[in-house]
Parts: sequence; C-alpha cells; structure tokens
Amino acid sequence: MPVATDLPWWKEACIYQIYPASFKDSNGDGIGDIPGIISKLDHIKSLGVDAIWICPMFASPQCDMGYDISDYEAVYPPYGTVDDMERLITECHARSLRVLLDLVINHTSHLHAWFQESRSSKNNPKRDWYIWRPPTYATDGQRRPPNNWRAAFEGSVWEWDEHTQEYYLHYFAPEQPDLNWDNPATRAAIYESAMRFWLRKGIDGFRVDTANLYSKNTQFPNAAVTDLLSPWQPAFELFCNGPRIHEYIRELNQVLGEFGAMTVGELPCTPDVAKVLKYVSEKERQLNMVFQFEIVELGSGIIDRYNTVPRNWELTHLKAAVQQVQCFLAGTDGWTATFLENHDQARSVSRFGCDETPGLRASSAKMLAIFLAGLSGTLFLHQGQEIGMVNAPITWPISEYKDIASINYYNAVKNQTNGDAAALQRAKVGLQHIARDHGRLPMQWDSTFNAGFTEAVQSWMRVHDNYADINVERQNPDAGSVLSFWKSMLRLRKEQADVLVYGDFRIIDESNENIFIYEKKAGDKCAYVVLNFTREVRHIDLHSIFDIGQFKLIAQSSDHVSLNRLDPFEGRLYVKEDNNEAYVPNGI
Ligand code: GLC
Ligand code: CA
Repeated sequence: MPVATDLPWWKEACIYQIYPASFKDSNGDGIGDIPGIISKLDHIKSLGVDAIWICPMFASPQCDMGYDISDYEAVYPPYGTVDDMERLITECHARSLRVLLDLVINHTSHLHAWFQESRSSKNNPKRDWYIWRPPTYATDGQRRPPNNWRAAFEGSVWEWDEHTQEYYLHYFAPEQPDLNWDNPATRAAIYESAMRFWLRKGIDGFRVDTANLYSKNTQFPNAAVTDLLSPWQPAFELFCNGPRIHEYIRELNQVLGEFGAMTVGELPCTPDVAKVLKYVSEKERQLNMVFQFEIVELGSGIIDRYNTVPRNWELTHLKAAVQQVQCFLAGTDGWTATFLENHDQARSVSRFGCDETPGLRASSAKMLAIFLAGLSGTLFLHQGQEIGMVNAPITWPISEYKDIASINYYNAVKNQTNGDAAALQRAKVGLQHIARDHGRLPMQWDSTFNAGFTEAVQSWMRVHDNYADINVERQNPDAGSVLSFWKSMLRLRKEQADVLVYGDFRIIDESNENIFIYEKKAGDKCAYVVLNFTREVRHIDLHSIFDIGQFKLIAQSSDHVSLNRLDPFEGRLYVKEDNNEAYVPNGI
C-alpha cells in the first residue's frame, strides 16, 4: 500500500494510539476488541490522522495488560483472532491509514513456550534464552539474589525458581522474564516470531517497547542505596543502554529494512542528547525516532514515581524538557516524536491543564492541542485525548485502579507503613494524579450506558463518571468542541508542515513561569505559539516579542482574542503572513 515519495511518510504523520482493552467492545463482554476497533476506523480517519499504533493484542495472561506475551503469533482471544487482525490491516489500508504494532521483546510472559522450556532444566537448549544466575549467600547463610536492583513493578528483579535452584532476571513483573539478547539464536527467534510474522501480513511499522533495555550489563553491579526502607534499590538507569544495545538495534533495523517498516522506540531514562542521537541519527540506521520521557515525567516522585503531589513542577521545567526533545530538529540528522499522553501516563488536561470545571477543561485541552501541534517531529495522539478525557476522580476507591504498577505501589506503601491511613491517602493522591490507569479508562463514545464503550453491565475498567459531558457523539457536531479543535489543528499542522513539523524550535520567554511562548522557523517562514499555562488572565506585550503586524493568527483557543491579554489557559498560533501560501504535504 505505501506510495513512494521522497520523504518518509512518518515525518508529517499524526499517529493515533489505541489501547485495545478500552477502545470499543463489539460483543458485550466488557472488554474492547479488534472488531470494535474496525467499527470505529471512520472516527479515527475523520480526525485527519495517518496511522494507528495498537498496544499489544497478542496472546497473553495479561499480568501487565499484554506487555507479557505468551505467543507472538497469536491474538489474545477476548480481542479476536489473527484473521481479525488481517481484516483490520486491510480495512486500515483501504482508508490510507497505516498500522503499527507494539514490539515487546525485552521480555516474554513466563507462560511463553520459550520460557517454559528454559525453566524446565539447567541443560535445556533454551536455558540460555533467559538470564539465570545462581544465588549468593549472606554471612548468616541466607540465600540472596545476585544484586539489589528493584524491579519496575516493585520487589527484586530476581525471582527464585525452586525447580532448578537459580534466579531469573525480570526488570518488570516476575511474570515477565527478560530474554537473553546476547544469544544469537534468541535474537533470530525474536526477529522471526515477533517481527517477520506480522511484517509479512503488511503492517507498516512498530512501536518498540523499552528499546534501550535489551543489552544487559552482565556484571549486575549493586545499585547505590537511596531507599533505606527497602532492600531493593531503584536501578532503572542501570537497566538502560547496555554495552551491546546499538549492535542489537542496528540488527533489528535490518529486519525492518527488509519490509521498509518504520519504528518509534521507547527510550526511558536517557536524558543525554548525545546518547539519544545515537539511536535516532539517520546515518546510524537504528530507530526512526524515540519517545523521550522528560516532559511526561515532570512532577513524578524521584525514588517512587507515584510518591508526589499534583502539579509538582514549574513551567520553566516544562520548557527545559520541551527544549530537550525539540533540539534534534536543528543541526542534527535525527528526528523526534512529540506526545503528551500514552497508556503509561495520566491525562494531559489533568496534569498540564485543568480539569476542575468544564470551561477550564475545554480551554486547557485546546491550549494543549496548540502546544503539541506546534511542535516539530511526528505527532502521537492517545485515544480519548482528542475529546479531552481527564483523570479518574479522587472519589474513586483504590479498587478501581487495575494497573499492576498502581496496585503494587499501593501495597508496598501499605506494607512499609503497616497500613498507616495518612500514608495510604498520600499514595492515593499520587496515583490519582499520575497513575497509568487514567490513560486506560474506557473510551467515551456517547452518552448511553457505559459511554457506548460496552453493552455489558460490567466494563473491565470503570467508565469515567463524566461520560455524558465528554464524548465523541456530543462533540462531533459542535464546532466549538475539543474534538473539532483537534481536527482543525491536525489540518493546520499539515498545511503548515514546513514550519510546524520541520521548523527549528526556540523558546522566547525562558524564565516566565506563567506563559510559554515559542518560535518555529523554517527559512524565512516563521510561527509563534503563545500559551497561558495558568488559570488566571495574563497580560503580555506581544509587540515587544515579534512584529505582530506581519503575522496572521491561524489558531486560537478562546472565542474572543484581545491582543495583549490572555484568558486562562488560552493558546494562540501566529504564522508570518508573507509566504503564507498553503504548503503541500507529502500525502499517502
Ligand atoms: C513499556 C510499556 C508499559 C509496560 C512496560 C513493560 O514501558 O509501555 O506499559 O508495562 O514496557 O513491558
Ligand atoms: Ca469484547
């Protein structure tokens, strides 16, 4: 289906992320599914996006919502079948939508046949496909794991296996054993089963899960002790960017090259620009772009992500983080991915805008749409973001949180404090602000029961109480809705792609803690994005910043614009008038 053009399709693309469990249930079992996705492709197309990325829909016991795969070549039965996936690919391509799947190859499920063999005996041919280590012993003779690293979902990264009397490594849950990438046979099997199987079916690329974790520092040095309350120490930085990682990613890129497929890699814990560039520089031939986390991790707790309070960041921090991600556009041969939400993040309106009143919610959702659509790189939109969905309310009990990370964090606090009520309340406040659950709430389609997501009485995850106000059906015909606004922003971004997608980024008012103004420049074309990140009216002298007479206001989040006065959470986009002819994007 791809049409040959000089420029790759993905640079100007907007890619829409789908979380299959929560998108649309077609058969009334309370769980979203692939036929449900197919039934909503016209909605997706109407947004003006170019591709979809579907979170894991593979066979899985769902310990981590499908990021624990037991068979790469099968589909999780409640979601559908491989045939359904083939139909989805065909239906997408018929609408000129490309399809990305999630490539989860740092680990498999403990139920994957490879791991079942590996754990069966020390001399099984697949023993070395995972990472096994003998125990160490303390002076008192107590058995101990090889080091003190804390897993991403709490506890040690090492799990004791009674049967063969060794530990295996798992950076995430014990049900997610890490593959041994140093073994060439393992890599060959991953490429064949997880990648070529789906590439042959015509998919257009992958979102590469935890792309910098595959190569391990096999010395497994202890991490510095930063958490005195726990035997297991935060070690995520030691997980990342191991000695052979670039060799492996280059190899992976060769497999993709066989099919002309694109990649967007997930690159946690790597703020260093030079290190990022090694992955995304065109001449390195590794990944087309990566997700960096400087923006979405703003305000997270340092030792424990959820140990924080709402809005624990300053606007100047956000500016610095944006700079960090946008710097690849000027003077490097790299590329970047632009996003504010995904299935591991809370809702951007609740974090960076304001969800307290319908008015502030809608204006901040529009302001954030301008903010994002003005940034360079490939744009990613998460399901529900287009209608301004918000976090679950604070009144919901902790039992509504389904994510393994939330549950394990809450239980860890409970254990460490003997169930101290104040500590648990703090934990809940942190979770209500940044838990991954918020990005996983069922999609709000209409104002019928359960938001039109499912006909089942019981949805797998509770539907947000606000669905009658915030839903697709209601926003579609309303020219003033967040949904209509996103559609127009995506259209403008394509019309002005030279400056909005490819332009060089510069922050104008670095030290301002209330307003964020940035400039985009491409040759003599220029744009300014002006954003009020507060709930107060702000005054500003725009004339002193740019020659406003030469600029045209092409997007505004407020109904009434008065030049030097910004409404709460108002956003504007100005583009220089001369040279303002429509840009012809490279279409598909
Ligand atoms: C990535 C996924 C996340 C998952 C983890 C382990 O970070 O986005 O959802 O839990 O990898 O696979
Ligand atoms: Ca279903």
